[in-house]
This record gives sequence, C-alpha cells and structure tokens, in this order.
Amino acid sequence: MESSRDWIELEEKYGSHNYKPMPVVLSHGEGVWVTDVDGKRYLDMLSAYSALNFGHRHPRLLDAMRRQMDRLTLTSRAFFNDQLGPWYKKVTEFCALDLAIPMNSGTEAVETALKVARKWAYLEKKVPANQAEIIVCHNNFHGRSIAIISFSTEPENRDGFGPLTPGFRSIPYGDASALERAITPHTAAFLVEPIQGEGGVIIPPTGYLKEVREICTRHNVLLMVDEIQTGLGRTGRCFCYQHEESQPDVVILGKALGGGLYPISAVVTRQDILGLLKPGQHGSTFGGNPLACAVSLEALALLEEGKLAQHSEEKGLFLRNALREVQSPMVQDIRGMGLFTGIEIKAEYGTAKPYVMALMQEGILCKETHEQTIRLAPPLVISQEELEWAIPKLQSVFSKEP
Ligand SMILES: Cc1ncc(COP(=O)(O)O)c(C=O)c1O
Repeated sequence: MESSRDWIELEEKYGSHNYKPMPVVLSHGEGVWVTDVDGKRYLDMLSAYSALNFGHRHPRLLDAMRRQMDRLTLTSRAFFNDQLGPWYKKVTEFCALDLAIPMNSGTEAVETALKVARKWAYLEKKVPANQAEIIVCHNNFHGRSIAIISFSTEPENRDGFGPLTPGFRSIPYGDASALERAITPHTAAFLVEPIQGEGGVIIPPTGYLKEVREICTRHNVLLMVDEIQTGLGRTGRCFCYQHEESQPDVVILGKALGGGLYPISAVVTRQDILGLLKPGQHGSTFGGNPLACAVSLEALALLEEGKLAQHSEEKGLFLRNALREVQSPMVQDIRGMGLFTGIEIKAEYGTAKPYVMALMQEGILCKETHEQTIRLAPPLVISQEELEWAIPKLQSVFSKEP
C-alpha cells in the first residue's frame, strides 16, 4: 500500500457500499487529533458521532481496558462476572433510575426499549394482546434494524426493506400537543431524541421535554428518551433531558458509554418496567461482558470527575459565538447545545458537502447530515487552545463560497 487511494480502493472493492466516507484514511488517533496514512493531522470534529466524547485513546480508558484484558474478557450471561454488578449500580445512579440492561449497539438498546415497552403495556397497562402502539417523531433516527426503520420517515432508510413492522405512529417533532392528540388507550410509550442529531441537529422548543413528560404521566404512557447521541456530557449536561425538569421513564444509552473503545449500550429504567422481563425473554452473548463494563465504568468515572459536561457547555458557547461573528450570507442558522453544533447552509448556496471538503483541506474533519447541515461535535476533552486553533479555519471556510 502506498497512498490513501490504495486503502480506499480496497474498501471499495471488497466492502459493502453502505457508507459514503470522506476521502481520508486514518491510521492513528490521540485526544482530539487523528492522523492519516500520509502523516497529515486533523482535528476530529465528528467524534464518531459522539462515541468519542473522551477523545481518542484516553489513557485512563486504555488502562482500564488493558487491566481487564489481562483478567477476563467474556463470560456470557450464563455466569455472573465481577464487573457487571458495579456497572449496573453506576449506570442506574447516573440516570436516577432502578434497573439497567446492557446491550452492544445503540440499535440493540432501542430494540430492547421497544420490547420492554410492549411487555409493560400488556402486563401493566393491560393493553389487549398485539395492540400496543409506540409513538415516535418525524425525522427520527434510532438505528437500522427492521423494527426501527419501520418507523423512520426517511424513504431511503425504509424502501426495499419491507414488510415493515407495525405498531408505530409518527408525529411532528417538537409539538407536544401532537403527542397528546396521538395518544390512545393502546399507547405504550413515546420514543424521542432530545435533539435530533442525524436529523440535522434539530433542537425542539424550550419546555418540550417537560411538556411531553407531563403528557406521558397524565396518560400513563412511558417516556423513552434516546440519549445515545446526546448523552454523557455532549450537550452541556450529563443527559440532554436534564436541561429541563424531565425525568424519563426509560433512558437509552450507547456510543460514548463505551468510551469510544468498546461497544456497550444500555436501557436504564424502573423496577416496575424492566422487572417484567423474565429469564429467556431477552439477551445478548456479548451484552454485559466484563471488558465492556470495565471500560464503561471508567468512562462514567471520567464524566463524573472531569466536569466534562460543564466544559462542553462553556466551549460550545464559545465556539458558536465565534462562528456567528462571521455573519456569512451562506449560513441559514447556527444552533446547538454544549459541544453539539449544527451549521445549516442556505439551499440556494448548494449543499453542505463542499464546506465539509474545504474544512478537511484545512485539517478539520466533520460530516454533513441531511444535505444542508454540518455537524460539529468534537471530543468533550477539547482544550481552549485546540478550539482556538480551529476557529480561524472554520471562520475562513464559512466566510466564502467554497
Ligand atoms: C439517537 C440515536 N439512536 C440510535 C442510534 C443507533 O446507534 P448504533 O449506530 O450504535 O446502532 C444512533 C446512531 O447514530 C443515534 O444517533
């Protein structure tokens, strides 16, 4: 292999083309920085869609992983292990809830939440068999399994994958009264992202989560908040729902829960909900393995000790203020919470893609989402100096048409 082209061709020849990556081949990462096979360094402003909140190869996470690798990595759930219990305790305390169930990917955690909500509807709410409904939002993104794409409103996610799974109803995002209208006696749960990340960094009106909390309580409907992308410090709070007084019944976690090192996801909820699952009704061979739990425990400890959420809030504000200084005619909107920022390009100036390419030339990696919006989500460990390195480059790219 001589140039990045060779690696790209190899992936293109032998791999499924279900992604459209930027033409950069990365080989090393440390903190907020990644290096490509030609030795060029970039600031990672995507953070693996927020899985790398702690940056690349955080030394404490590496240590925790190495220590655990030298002891025990996988037991299956046929046996107990000495990491899962402490992890359960920690993750439930984080969410102020009672019980958790571990999975591997975000998609699996969402699937788990859907199953648990249906079980609760039949056993507790006494919804007639096979009639339970789950309400979701237009423009949602919760993963790519058959059940989850069945309620996607993006034709690209759904088309050609039928027959789709019934039992879902979609309402406009950010509209609490639409939720109240959509609820029926068969409604089990409302599944919602506190900010629609994949949907284009869409922030609902202030008070939305508080209002939907009240509506769900009034109608005995579970509020299930998907914090897979927004959780663990990303938006300036440990969880995005904490910006409002809105304690969910079910919190869904993934991505940064494994410190960007090892996949682990979770559904965290109450005893009266998750307690309904009996042996054999759900599981996963790798779910709750000691290696994942050890890394995740360390990631949660970093979040607790490092004031990362507060840092995210302060640096996010600083970044957005600096971006707004440009007053670019091409920019429709700059929005965000914490270190989660969307820059929307006006449609008459084309798509966001050329800006993303121009940023790559400047040594900043990010990606467009939904054609018009550039998502900036650097690792939360980014320093003031690192941000100040990036800001003039960002300002210069957005001050002219690429
Ligand atoms: C809000 C949300 N839910 C679920 C998922 C799916 O997670 P995974 O890709 O780990 O399956 C994602 C991934 O981007 C997400 O952003």
